[in-house]
Amino acid sequence: MRKLPDNFFFGAAFSGPQTEGAYKLDGKLENIWDTWSDQDIGAFYNKVGSYVGNDFYHRYEEDILLLKSLGLTSFRTSIQWSRLLDQDGKINPQGAAFYHKMLAFAKEQGMDVFMNLYHFDMPTYLFRRGGWESREVVEAYAHYAHEAFKEFGSEVKYWFTFNEPIVEPEQRYRDGVWYPFVKDIKRSVVTQYHIALAHSLAVGEFRKLQNEGVIAPDVKIGLINCFAPPYTKENPSPEDLEAVRMEDGLHNRWWLDLVTKGCLPQDVLDTLAKKGAPAPIRPGDEGILAQGKVDWLGFNYYQPKRVQAPKKTVDENGNPIFSDPYIWPERKINKSRGWEIYPKGIYDFGIKLKEDYPDLTFFISENGMGVENEDAFRDENGVIQDDYRIEFVRDHLNWVAKAIDEGAKCVGYHYWAVIDNWSWSNAFKNRYGFIEVRLQDGYNRRLKKSAEWLKKVATTKEIV
Ligand code: BG6
Repeated sequence: MRKLPDNFFFGAAFSGPQTEGAYKLDGKLENIWDTWSDQDIGAFYNKVGSYVGNDFYHRYEEDILLLKSLGLTSFRTSIQWSRLLDQDGKINPQGAAFYHKMLAFAKEQGMDVFMNLYHFDMPTYLFRRGGWESREVVEAYAHYAHEAFKEFGSEVKYWFTFNEPIVEPEQRYRDGVWYPFVKDIKRSVVTQYHIALAHSLAVGEFRKLQNEGVIAPDVKIGLINCFAPPYTKENPSPEDLEAVRMEDGLHNRWWLDLVTKGCLPQDVLDTLAKKGAPAPIRPGDEGILAQGKVDWLGFNYYQPKRVQAPKKTVDENGNPIFSDPYIWPERKINKSRGWEIYPKGIYDFGIKLKEDYPDLTFFISENGMGVENEDAFRDENGVIQDDYRIEFVRDHLNWVAKAIDEGAKCVGYHYWAVIDNWSWSNAFKNRYGFIEVRLQDGYNRRLKKSAEWLKKVATTKEIV
């Protein structure tokens, strides 16, 4: 049995748009999820749109107490831009009041809140002005970050600019699976580049306020991404390795270079330009990106990225293709989600961070297993016997412990999402929690079998 360091922290990760609900209450504006839900509710599993979340807005006290009762000492959520600011960029006092109340209660309970500013939840009025394709929105985000830092500067110890900044460029603009369903790599690169600028401007605002004493010197800022170690076939060809370079470049190195060196990987920018999808670089951007260095990093891990040389280099819309998926014959799949389960990936990437970015401290900011129809696993007392979840987390933690033993600077683990929550277009199809949310029973919470196990591990640091 392995043991994690005594000061290793355990917590929960979730987000504002997936938990709060109350989507039109207290001056909250529409965000892109509400707009999509209004336009086409059929696109959401069981027609459950973004409206209710898991009702955290009304149950935050109960939920924070539940997290605490499992021995967790921190959780991450996000401020919803569409709740905190009005259309003129001014603080919405009722929106701010919710976060103040929630932060105060967490503090009373001794729980650290990791506060993220953006989790795929563009306010709709800004999306209509171009969303991440527009520089105006990049500026608006910097303003939002500034307002949030000022408002909660003395209440939050750990800030994050973005969760998984790679996801919207891919899902919304490259693969076209999320609203507004664009399939254009040129537009995808524009959004990815603009998000890198937005992150950097926000870090710049943070440092300014820290220098002015509005934010205390020991408060940290970071970025969270879903990093994935890229793998290819055994005995790869030079073309397979080229596919790995670009996949790793766009997905991992883009953000890692930004947050450690304050620049983007030149080889990736060059290839994009050569293939007709250039980053929209303007004079002065270099200085903005240089501000993007962070204090620490969040590493979300779900699955590895297995790629090989693409069969075609351009798709039917004229978009360059950098890689094809590689189906590893030994892969094990979580059938509910269609994602590969490969715990060793968390170790491989941890070691890669240690080797390539030795000064960077990180924590596992998300890791989890979403399972459909957990009703099938209920025992006679109605408790979900989710042994698969225990096995999943145990396996991953063992690899984390090994990486730490070998020098990786990993300081904690947040499980996604501890309490079941709303998962975008999958809504409540796949459940991630150690705690069940009973939709047919007024959204009441009930512990699953794994909750007791988690408590043991979180409090003893022993991976039993
Ligand atoms: C991460 C996101 O990618 O994975 C979360 O940060 C998301 O927002 C989680 O919910 C699990 O993925 P999904 O699509 O099953 O909800």
